[in-house]
Amino acid sequence: MTGLEPGQPGAERGRGSLPSNAPRPRLLERYRAFLPLTDATPIVSLGEGATPLVHAERLGAAWGIPNLHLKFEGMNPTGSFKDRGMVMAVAKALEEGARSIVCASTGNTSASAAAYGAAAGLEVVVVLPAGKIAAGKLLQAQAAGARVLAVEGNFDAALRIVRELAEQDEHPITLVNSVNPFRLEGQKTAAFEVCEDLARAPDILAIPVGNAGNISAYWMGFRAWHAAGRIGALPRMWGFQAEGAAPLVLGHPVEHPETFATAIRIGNPASWEKAVAARDESGGLIEAVGEDEIFDAYRDVVRFAGIFCEPASAASLAGVRKLRLAGRLDADALVVCVLTGHGLKDPDTAGRLADPLVTAAPTLPAVMEALGWHF
Ligand code: F0G
Repeated sequence: MTGLEPGQPGAERGRGSLPSNAPRPRLLERYRAFLPLTDATPIVSLGEGATPLVHAERLGAAWGIPNLHLKFEGMNPTGSFKDRGMVMAVAKALEEGARSIVCASTGNTSASAAAYGAAAGLEVVVVLPAGKIAAGKLLQAQAAGARVLAVEGNFDAALRIVRELAEQDEHPITLVNSVNPFRLEGQKTAAFEVCEDLARAPDILAIPVGNAGNISAYWMGFRAWHAAGRIGALPRMWGFQAEGAAPLVLGHPVEHPETFATAIRIGNPASWEKAVAARDESGGLIEAVGEDEIFDAYRDVVRFAGIFCEPASAASLAGVRKLRLAGRLDADALVVCVLTGHGLKDPDTAGRLADPLVTAAPTLPAVMEALGWHF
């Protein structure tokens, strides 16, 4: 036996009472009691979940929200929250004997499906809106060997097509978009983690809304945790859409959704009713944020909190900042903003944060000079 035995000095380091040599429990095992698993469900894992909840003190101080926390879902194995739902959907697909999975995607779902499908030995088909996928996400799906098709249409059109694909009999294939109920079951685990880390529920849970699955999943999670007596109160759910793609705010589908935050460029969300229920049952809201507001939040969160998220993720922050400025958020509120995906996924937008690269000869005077620190 190598490593430390439980009870040995130094054995209980860091992670609660787990001995340091014990494997970390996988997401599906950790929340087994709250998930629709059977003895026949294979416990697949790429190490999803257990993402950081970061108290953004400097950013919160700048914005007048001292209790601002960031749930950084970009730390999942494929760099977005989708992995929590995908691990569950793929486990159930395997349990049911599936050989192929399919999804429509604005990028992250396809990256996740490609990774979990590759690990499970499944055929993966992804249908994407042509020209509207951030470079990193497309490469993730291609690198993992998914069959990638781009359609001349938006996400809503792609989703319509994959629903039809999943219904034909010629080539049986399991749909792993969030209309697959196992996706939301897996995604609700993020709400459990937030409550565990805070030892309570936040006052406000702010989240970007696209196809509206994630806001629905968080609300399911908070309610389940509350019903189990693990939290005494529920949060208010604050969802934010981009102004040019805000069907839930307008109350009707948007035929031509537009936003630089391509992950949430969606005009007819599949989980419409569930999201509205999450908003209303929690006493929350779903509002729109402008392109500049999203961009400013995207920049500020990396400059003031060191967390590099993708543009769509920053919609949650932009919304919270906007409502604070409008006097609609108390300064002492405990706020959690969900940062849904990693900034490295979208290097083209990230380029707008970068000044032209300065070069210098490898000498002290040249580097001092280039820094403007006159030698
Ligand atoms: N943030 C990111 C980074 C996303 O990728 C998505 C959705 C959302 C927020 C919105 O979540 O759809 O549950 O309301 N991306 C999907 C995809 C549509 O295909 O990757 P939602």
